[in-house]
Amino acid sequence: MRTAEEIRRVVRTAVEAAVWAPSVHNTQPWSFSITGDEVGIHADVDRRLQFQDPAGREMLISVGAAVFNLTLALATLGYDPLVHLLPDPDRPALLATVRLGGPVTPDEHTKMLHGQIERRRTHRGAFVDVMIPRNFADALSAEAQAEGVRLTPVRSESGKRVLAALTRAAQEVQAYDRAFSLEVLRWARPPGTTRGDGVPADAYPLRPDHTEPDFAQRDYSRDHLWGYDRLPSATRPSAPGLVAVMSTVGDTREEWLRAGEALQRVLLFASAHGVRAAFHTQALELYHLREFIRQEMLEGEYPQMIMRLGVTAEDAGTLRRPLSEVIEEDA
Ligand SMILES: Cc1cc2nc3c(=O)[nH]c(=O)nc-3n(C[C@H](O)[C@H](O)[C@H](O)COP(=O)(O)O)c2cc1C
Repeated sequence: MRTAEEIRRVVRTAVEAAVWAPSVHNTQPWSFSITGDEVGIHADVDRRLQFQDPAGREMLISVGAAVFNLTLALATLGYDPLVHLLPDPDRPALLATVRLGGPVTPDEHTKMLHGQIERRRTHRGAFVDVMIPRNFADALSAEAQAEGVRLTPVRSESGKRVLAALTRAAQEVQAYDRAFSLEVLRWARPPGTTRGDGVPADAYPLRPDHTEPDFAQRDYSRDHLWGYDRLPSATRPSAPGLVAVMSTVGDTREEWLRAGEALQRVLLFASAHGVRAAFHTQALELYHLREFIRQEMLEGEYPQMIMRLGVTAEDAGTLRRPLSEVIEEDA
């Protein structure tokens, strides 16, 4: 028999793990309701990016990643996580419920992924010149596939150049758009911020790296001298790393959530092997560019994330809101 106290403790621990998920601009667009042994994971729609993400696709990918962390924490604590995505069509903001199922013994793989939840970080820059072996890339694709999502490494030089060029074009277009730029700025955090969300200044280098081909970074600092200081230029990293695209067969809300689950699974697996990811999702926020990638590069599958994976010695900063801001408990 589980006591109410035990359930409360387990569920809180699982939510603590959930909030370490990556989210677009660190918006953390989620809240958690706890009713008995069930956790409801809700979209916090006030945190959706109005201009960048009107359909909420990136918001749902972010929440999907949080759902994955939550289930991983429950499994590691010995409870089978019973997940129901989009359980109630009349409550569109309720994106998932997770109930505590019967006892399970976590396997080594589950424990390995769980061990990375608080260690994983987003990287923003070049990687050191270490090749990602083909069998490691295959293993990453298998992690995504376990969630029904495809991770395609882009191997051809022309494919990488096209994706980099589309990223730069999207970055220029978005920088030119005032509403868009202001939205990015709203989520940038100056040095010494006391807020628990947004992208802090110690999460990106002061001067952006250039790789060949060059993938434009989001501009979080605008004209400010924010960002961490780099190594002297002679030793600056310059490799783009392994370029990869995550895609789904369709483009439904459920597939966005699954893409988030797969993303987090891939990132934790990579982190366990000393590999970090950098994201470049700008081109996926412009309809025509996303359509081009879908039709010309993915045989009609819908691109959900563009990333580079590699090795870095740098450790970027990150922030999270306290649990008291994201949990609603019943009496
Ligand atoms: C859907 C999605 C899109 C993202 N797009 C970008 C991006 O284009 N550029 C970037 O630097 N980071 C991107 N990120 C990473 C977030 O900024 C990052 O997860 C957040 O700031 C929290 O930092 P952390 O991952 O280091 O914990 C994205 C994350 C998600 C989930």
